[in-house]
Amino acid sequence: MTSSLIQRHQKVYGPVINWDSDVEIVSGQGCWVTDVEGERYLDFASGIAVLNAGHNHPAIVAAARDQLDRLWHAGGAFRYESLVTAAEKIVAVAPPSIEKLFFMSAGAESVEASIKLARRVTGRQGVFVFRGAFHGRTMGSVSYTTSSAKYRRGYHPLLPSVFVTPFPHPYRWGMSEEEATEHALRELTLKLKHEVMPDEVAAFLVEPMQGEGGYYPAPVPFMRRLRELADEHGILLVLDEVQTGFGRTGKWFASEHYGIEPDVLVMGKAIANGLPLSAVGARARLQDAWPTGSHGTTFGGNPVACAAAAANVDVLAGLIPGVPALAEHAFARFADLRTRHATIGDVRGLGLMIGVELVKPGGNTPDPDAFPFLATYAREHGLFLLDCWSDANVIRFVPPLCVPTEELNLAIDIIDAGLGAYEKK
Ligand SMILES: Cc1ncc(COP(=O)(O)O)c(C=O)c1O
Repeated sequence: MTSSLIQRHQKVYGPVINWDSDVEIVSGQGCWVTDVEGERYLDFASGIAVLNAGHNHPAIVAAARDQLDRLWHAGGAFRYESLVTAAEKIVAVAPPSIEKLFFMSAGAESVEASIKLARRVTGRQGVFVFRGAFHGRTMGSVSYTTSSAKYRRGYHPLLPSVFVTPFPHPYRWGMSEEEATEHALRELTLKLKHEVMPDEVAAFLVEPMQGEGGYYPAPVPFMRRLRELADEHGILLVLDEVQTGFGRTGKWFASEHYGIEPDVLVMGKAIANGLPLSAVGARARLQDAWPTGSHGTTFGGNPVACAAAAANVDVLAGLIPGVPALAEHAFARFADLRTRHATIGDVRGLGLMIGVELVKPGGNTPDPDAFPFLATYAREHGLFLLDCWSDANVIRFVPPLCVPTEELNLAIDIIDAGLGAYEKK
């Protein structure tokens, strides 16, 4: 970014948000962005796992532009077609249990709404959340977020009746998947015995693969047992698929990897490929039991965002079938890198949602210096990367789903060289 723009930026814009770089971009196309000086960068941050169809996809741009020319806001005053079309298309690709939607604008807002729905409909107050989860930054959603204590610092007291229980982190705990699953489930069962009665619990709120919390996919038996426990006790299984949804894991929604269906599904991020839109989907009987007027929004379901979302579903239908092969290729390449870089402790994920954990050689102690070095190296070589986990030591590898194999290889080559340079230091 030019120094004059930084000065203007700092003068009028609060510093609370953490910018990953000072690079000023002016355009984007597919996996690439171009900065103000004409330099091109491979964008493997994808706007924090939002641009699944890539930057500036022509079919999505055309749909949004067409809507923009005709009508761009209605609020709750009028009905309009793009909202209905987007909802129809999303319901058609969502798990069968998700029969009706309600649109909002941001992921956190829809997380909040999902818990409001769960509390209102069940008449219960308790909410179970899983350590390491990220559900957003609003007061309610930050009360459910435990990916890092820094997000909660200074904001206490948070919402009451939120019960935090472990999510299986096999690598971090030095356990097998079976042991980690058993430990997490034992803790959950003890909480239901000692801290809150099951019939006081409205929801299990869970990411099928933790995002910000280190890119940990839940083990299959863990998710299946959550489904069973929810059924046994009349608790709603609320899946936060804000980051995992819309093809990121190689399926429309990550729940498909587990053979389970949620009662409530929270969607955001990639839903409209970058226009602000989010949704709470649920079984029809749950949406119908959420009384009219007990929730609402001004901007949610914006006509332009909905037009983009509808076009996005059509585009993703063409891209998702290609994700497993791209993912297999990326995992094979990272497995090879792991044999050559002692800094890589673990590679995990689903589809093109891949976490590469950087540690001190010889153990699983997070290396806090590795990712900052790598991110700078990568940027200097034309690649943007993000991190995750509270020690900021996990590469959050999230290219657009339209990434060609050549660009995938280019990015992994840069990571390979960057880790080589770090290890030689
Ligand atoms: C799983 C998950 N839920 C909720 C959110 C919050 O979404 P938003 O930033 O749009 O409020 C995020 C954002 O990273 C997320 O990854």
